[in-house]
Amino acid sequence: MRFSRILGTGSSVPARVVTNAELCQKIDTSEEWIVERTGIRERRWIAEGSGIGSSDLGAEAGARALADAGIAAGQVSLVIAATLSPDYDFPGNGVLIQRKLGLKAPATIDVRQQCNGFLYGLSIADAFIRAGVHQHVLVVASEVQSTGLDVTDRGRDMTVIFADGAGAAVVGPSDDQAHAILSTHLHVDGTHAEDLWCEFPSSRHSPRLTKEILDEGRHYPRMNGRVVFKHAVSRMQEAVNEALDANGVTLADLTLLVPHQANLRIIHNVRDALKLPEAKVVTNIERYGNTTSASIPLALDECRKEGRLPAGSLVCLVAFGSGFTWGSALIRL
Ligand code: COA
Repeated sequence: MRFSRILGTGSSVPARVVTNAELCQKIDTSEEWIVERTGIRERRWIAEGSGIGSSDLGAEAGARALADAGIAAGQVSLVIAATLSPDYDFPGNGVLIQRKLGLKAPATIDVRQQCNGFLYGLSIADAFIRAGVHQHVLVVASEVQSTGLDVTDRGRDMTVIFADGAGAAVVGPSDDQAHAILSTHLHVDGTHAEDLWCEFPSSRHSPRLTKEILDEGRHYPRMNGRVVFKHAVSRMQEAVNEALDANGVTLADLTLLVPHQANLRIIHNVRDALKLPEAKVVTNIERYGNTTSASIPLALDECRKEGRLPAGSLVCLVAFGSGFTWGSALIRL
């Protein structure tokens, strides 16, 4: 039986720190509201006018993951790029990341799935490697959301939450389950597609974007926050239990739970419902905000670099987001 494993991780965030105090100067909000409702104290946004795209942050994270894994560019045969904020409508970020890294990859796949982009990408990489189709796959999740946020009072619920960043993992073959992606679990419920979405530009309309749409702000992301919150707490708990049950392990066996950094209150609700101790649940949303697809690989990379995930650790990744999509992965590092 062949398995896949994570060989290395990398991450990248823009240098610009945007504090809650800075946002308070631009929109009608307060430090107390943001911290109490989301847990976020600061986030990273690209410098205004810098022209940095999600493929740039992704390429940097990818290069760091390759260096961490000790894998040369020529050994990667597939690039999987996840993002909801691609540089262009097309071609996708996978093409751009392959070019920027000079990878001799014969194939690339672009993944959407928003906050679940990394989990979906990891699951695809795992399947290809176990099937013997690919040896080394680079999974990159990267976002530049700041250029697409409504930094006015109208968009304040979204603007205080979302941020820029990237994370990546090199996935390669493994001979045994002692170091392996043990299972991945992916889900979708499209009945909630419009509860967290960005409607324009849209191919259902010609032209796809008009001055009226811009004036109405319908090209900005929108969210039914309460519905998202409720579903996120339930679905993430279920997905963690699903991963543990599938592998015959319990919460006590987990070294760390790395949840999507959606919102600190969501993470705390999941943690309390599962009765997990605080030390076992990773949070960095205080410093980075919600970086959507990048949040899990960014947190995973930080934990590995901080020595919180030595070889042999059992880690569960869990995400929930727009779609709704959700899922989990159980990994023996
Ligand atoms: N600053 C101050 N007030 C804000 C605000 C901000 N940045 N954003 C929204 N508000 C206001 C609203 O205008 C509304 O005011 P009103 O009652 O006068 O109409 C009020 O806060 C909303 O209150 P409430 O609905 O009780 O807020 P909430 O407790 O549901 O919190 C969210 C709002 C968005 C923080 C919450 O719904 C949430 O966390 N949802 C999940 C969001 C998330 O994690 N998304 C990512 C998923 S991947």
